[in-house]
Amino acid sequence: MTQHPVQNLLITGGCGFIGSNFVRYWLTEHPHSRVVVYDKLTYAGRKENLADLWDDARLQLVVGDIGDQALVRGTCQQQSIDLIVNFAAETHVDQSILGPLVFTDTNVRGTHVLLEVARELGIRLHHISTDEVYGHIRDDHQSVEADALAPRSPYAASKAAADQLVQAYAITYNLPVTITRGANNVGPYQYPEKAVPLFSTNAILGEAIPIYGDGLQMRDYAHVYDHCTGIETVLLRGEIGEVYNVGTGREMTNLEMVDIVLASLGKSHDLIRHVTDRPGHDRRYSMNVDKLKTLGWQPKYDPKEAVAEAAKWYAEHRAWWEPIRSGAFREYYEKQYAERLAGTAQ
Ligand code: NAD
Ligand code: DAU
Repeated sequence: MTQHPVQNLLITGGCGFIGSNFVRYWLTEHPHSRVVVYDKLTYAGRKENLADLWDDARLQLVVGDIGDQALVRGTCQQQSIDLIVNFAAETHVDQSILGPLVFTDTNVRGTHVLLEVARELGIRLHHISTDEVYGHIRDDHQSVEADALAPRSPYAASKAAADQLVQAYAITYNLPVTITRGANNVGPYQYPEKAVPLFSTNAILGEAIPIYGDGLQMRDYAHVYDHCTGIETVLLRGEIGEVYNVGTGREMTNLEMVDIVLASLGKSHDLIRHVTDRPGHDRRYSMNVDKLKTLGWQPKYDPKEAVAEAAKWYAEHRAWWEPIRSGAFREYYEKQYAERLAGTAQ
C-alpha cells in the first residue's frame, strides 16, 4: 500500500467542530507536520476550540473565506502547502432551510475555488463530504461509494455538488484528490445547534428537548475521533481519485439517541417534546464502510458509547457552550423552535 508524503497541511474550517478535533489529533500523531488553519470564523468557527494549541509553532491561523482565490493561493504558496483538507462548509440542515444561498456560496463555489488553486499549484486536495449526499436510504440498503447521489436538502445538495466537482477535477485535470463521506459525528466542540449537543445542553439546563416528528429517523452517530482516524487513513494510504465512507455502519433512531443522552446525564424523559418535523427530513442514513476497512481502519467507538460520552462532555464543559448559547444562538433558537415548542408542554 502506498504511503503518501504529507507534511504541510492547509486545513480549511479548522476552527469548527470536526476540523478542530482533526487538527488536535493530527498534530499529536504527526509531530513533524505543520498545519495552517484557514477559517472564516463564522458563528460555528471558534478560535477557542484550539485554545490550547495557538502557542504551538507548528500551527498558524489565516482568517479568510475559501471563496477568496487570491488569499487561498497566496497562503498555499507562502506556506509551501502540499495538501489541502477541506472541512470548511456551512453545515446545518435547518439553517440551510432558513437561508440556503450561503450554502451554495461556501460549499459549492468555495470548494470550486480550492480546486482551482490546487490545479494551478499542483497540490493534492482531500474533500470532506457527507453521507447526506446519498439521500435517505430505504429498506435495509447500506450506501456504497459507487451509489448515485440523491441529496434532498439545500445543505445536502450543496455538498453533493462539491463532491461531484472534486470528482470532475480528478477526471478532467487528473488532479490528485480523495474524498471521505462521513456519518453524523458527535463529540467535543460541536456547535449546539446540532441534535446531540442541543439535546445535551437543553437537558442540562432543564429545557424542553424538541424531537422532530415521530423521532424514528435513523442516523449513524459516530464519534468524531473515528472520523479523524478515518480521514488520516485516507490521507496516508487512500487510493488517489477514490471515495471512502466513514462511519460505524450501525444506526439508531433519534428516540434511542435521546434515551442515551438523558441516561448519561441522569435527566428525565419528561423533557421530550415531539414538534413539527423538519421539511423533507431524511428518514435514514446508513453507510457500508468496508472499503475504508480494507486500508486497515477500524472504528474505536460503538455509537451508543459515542453519544453517551458526548453528552457527558457537555456536562463537564459548560464554560465552552454557555457563552455560545447566550449570544446569536438565542435568536436562531427562537426562530427555529419558539412556534414549534409553543403549546407542547406536558
Ligand atoms: P462546523 O459548522 O462545526 O464548522 C465549519 C467550519 O467552517 C467553521 O470553522 C467555519 O467558520 C468554517 N467556514 C464556514 N464557511 C467558511 C468559508 N466560506 N471560508 C472558510 N471557512 C469557513 O462543521 P463540522 O460539523 O465541523 O463539519 C466540517 C465538515 O465536515 C463539513 O464539510 C461538513 O459538511 C462535513 N461533515 C460533517 C458531519 C457532522 O456530523 N458534523 C458529518 C459528515 C461530514
Ligand atoms: O449525516 C451527516 C450530517 O450530520 C452532516 O453532513 C451535517 O453537517 C450534520 O449537521 C448532521 O446532519 P443531521 O441533519 O443529520 O444532524 P442534526 O444534528 O441536525 O440532526 C440529527 C437528527 O436529529 C436528524 O434526524 C434531525 C433530528 N433533530 C435535529 C434537531 C436539531 C431533531 O429531532 N430535533 C432537533 O432539534
